[in-house]
Amino acid sequence: MTKKLKNHFETPSHLVISSGKQKLHFVFLAAKCIHIYTKECPKDLIELDEATETKLISITCGEVMTLSLGDDITCVIDKNLSFRFYRAGEPFFSPLMLDETHSGKEGYSKIRIPVDEDAKIYGLGDKMAQLNKKGYVYRSWNTDDPNHQDEQFMSLYKSINYLLLRDKGTYYGLYFPSTFRYEYDLGRYDSKHADIYSEKGFLDFYFFYGASPKEITSSYSRLVGYPYFIRLKMLGNNQSRWSYENETMVRDVFKQHKKHRLPLDYIHMDIHYMDGYRDFTIDHSRFPDVKSLSEELKKGDVELVTINDAGLKLDDQYELCATCTEKGWLGKHEDGSIYVGRVWPGDSVFPSYINPECRAFFHQKAVEFIKENGISGIWNDMNEPYSFTGELPMNLDFSFGDRKLLHEEYHNIYGESMDRCYYDVFEEFNRRSYCFTRAAQATTPKYAFSWNGDNHSLWHHLVLSIPQILSCSLSNLMFDGVDIGGFGSDTTKELLLRWCEANILMPFFRNHSSLYTRNQEPYAFDQECTDIYREYLNLRYRFVPYLYDLARKMATKGEMIVRPLFYNYPNDENVFEINDEYMVGEDVLLAPILGQGQVARAIYLPKGIWIDYFTNEHIEGGKYILKEMKLGETGIFIRNNTIIPEFTNLLHLNKKKIPDIVFHLYGEEGNYELYEDDGDSLNYQKGEYNLYRVSFKDGIFSLTLTRNRYHSPWKRVIIIHNGHVYEEKMKSKLEVNLQ
Ligand code: NOJ
Repeated sequence: MTKKLKNHFETPSHLVISSGKQKLHFVFLAAKCIHIYTKECPKDLIELDEATETKLISITCGEVMTLSLGDDITCVIDKNLSFRFYRAGEPFFSPLMLDETHSGKEGYSKIRIPVDEDAKIYGLGDKMAQLNKKGYVYRSWNTDDPNHQDEQFMSLYKSINYLLLRDKGTYYGLYFPSTFRYEYDLGRYDSKHADIYSEKGFLDFYFFYGASPKEITSSYSRLVGYPYFIRLKMLGNNQSRWSYENETMVRDVFKQHKKHRLPLDYIHMDIHYMDGYRDFTIDHSRFPDVKSLSEELKKGDVELVTINDAGLKLDDQYELCATCTEKGWLGKHEDGSIYVGRVWPGDSVFPSYINPECRAFFHQKAVEFIKENGISGIWNDMNEPYSFTGELPMNLDFSFGDRKLLHEEYHNIYGESMDRCYYDVFEEFNRRSYCFTRAAQATTPKYAFSWNGDNHSLWHHLVLSIPQILSCSLSNLMFDGVDIGGFGSDTTKELLLRWCEANILMPFFRNHSSLYTRNQEPYAFDQECTDIYREYLNLRYRFVPYLYDLARKMATKGEMIVRPLFYNYPNDENVFEINDEYMVGEDVLLAPILGQGQVARAIYLPKGIWIDYFTNEHIEGGKYILKEMKLGETGIFIRNNTIIPEFTNLLHLNKKKIPDIVFHLYGEEGNYELYEDDGDSLNYQKGEYNLYRVSFKDGIFSLTLTRNRYHSPWKRVIIIHNGHVYEEKMKSKLEVNLQ
């Protein structure tokens, strides 16, 4: 019997296609995204922007149904509800969807995607992996394994179900919203297929199409939520270790940075500041007066960040634990008894932060703690969640209200639910958030930025830091960084410096190391080490206005700050597998040294003219070059005909105290739009920001203040072009002859 293909629109943008008893849903969302499902995944644990497209795509119906989506993309659905996407008549995505009716296993779902041998598969957030994940097996299951070393580790702290594929010359994106454990076999056993499956999942995913990886990733970012807009200061230097154990040690970090003229904006306080590792408490024998300490440091423009652990000390005298027990907010076994794991405080219990009442309670505790101690940032740790006694049982009950919620469904979003307690605590102080997290999933960057957990002081981990951060960036964790110098094991002077050089323009910059490892502050080695580290911090602080503009674009358009080369050059066959270079925005390319004793390397420069940042040499791209770089030297290249806004001579990023803005002009012409606000408050949301249009051409530099809603401290404009420096008084309209 032939099945008939029927369709009807539930709403103008929701198409339900039936064939016999089977149904397939296509919901056309804004920004070139189609939500495709046979069984919709409940979205009450996560927030997505499912705004629908208003304009309708054209549909022709017959034996098969053809949808024309624009951009040369069509989708053909046949009578068995199989579908296939085409670009310019060439098929590029034709998944086979299998669910419990095929496997007989309840809740089972699988998507099998035929891929070419040479297809590229990017994304999946934080994995021990190169950019292209084709040929490997991964798992989405937040995992704390401090000894992760190589590609054998299938999961890490974060579970981001986003893939960006390039197959048959076409890029497309896929996002699976389920929080249950997901498995990915990306062509390990059968190089012609990628299999994505879950034992408890739903046949439910989002498909993104568009002209470029940039457009696709921005659509995905819009759906899951753009990362939040950071403070200017967060682009500064963060210094940490487990732990600066008392006030004297924290003060010493501050003093040493001052003494050595090392730029610094935040010092992090790891678990030793707490009383018996209880969140939101202070060990007063080590830290008699944190408020005075933080005020003293703030006078020197350095601020404090404190860590919080997901598990709470089991102690009925401890207010947080007592309240959570009394209110029934803790994870329970089937028999109703409270689950007890082990974390730093010993026996620990795990709150259901997803419960709105519980969340409001922790939010309030954080506000009080910040007020009492003058803290400026929150660091959420161990929130996979992790217990030293092993995995939390799958059937642990975290239900709240009418919502039945077991650990198997909650696990991958546990960290994010903790972040949601704290992401808005600084609003009470009219400050933007500083909240960062170890565990995360796709929607987390709305609430917290991230770092990649416990790497090691190994050259191999330095090499991995680039694809790791870039993969996070592609997966919406666009403000991310690894521990500079490596967390576990002892670093060396050379490794620390090469790490600093290599990661110098990564969004989040923090030197952090583990208990029992050697000191690895920039001054912990010798004078040469301090000097080189300082030189690079100065370089980073110069680039801050450029990075801040990118942070603004990240928060308003879902554009990435740091990017793999293929993001900017999607059709350049040479860049699809480049893991040891990265781009910052459109105009800056970094190619560092990543090996011990290495003093030269090959660098690929895409087509066009590139200017060596250090030597000013103009180099024709579209080829590899060889560059010698001894310790203290790295590869930074600027695209010809570019303007880079810069700061000059700063030790801290206190916006009020920055009198100059620099425009570094490369080549013979260029345009730039510069954004400026107070860098810290939420007043930009009320429109309090400035915009400057800057350009140069035919030897004339011009600047126009096109929007003037913030009282700027900039008094001077400095222009650098071809080795000449021009200094001008800031005006709302400025023209300078560069001849
Ligand atoms: C694990 C974190 O990943 C690390 O950064 C921190 O120093 C330790 N926990 C101690 O809090």
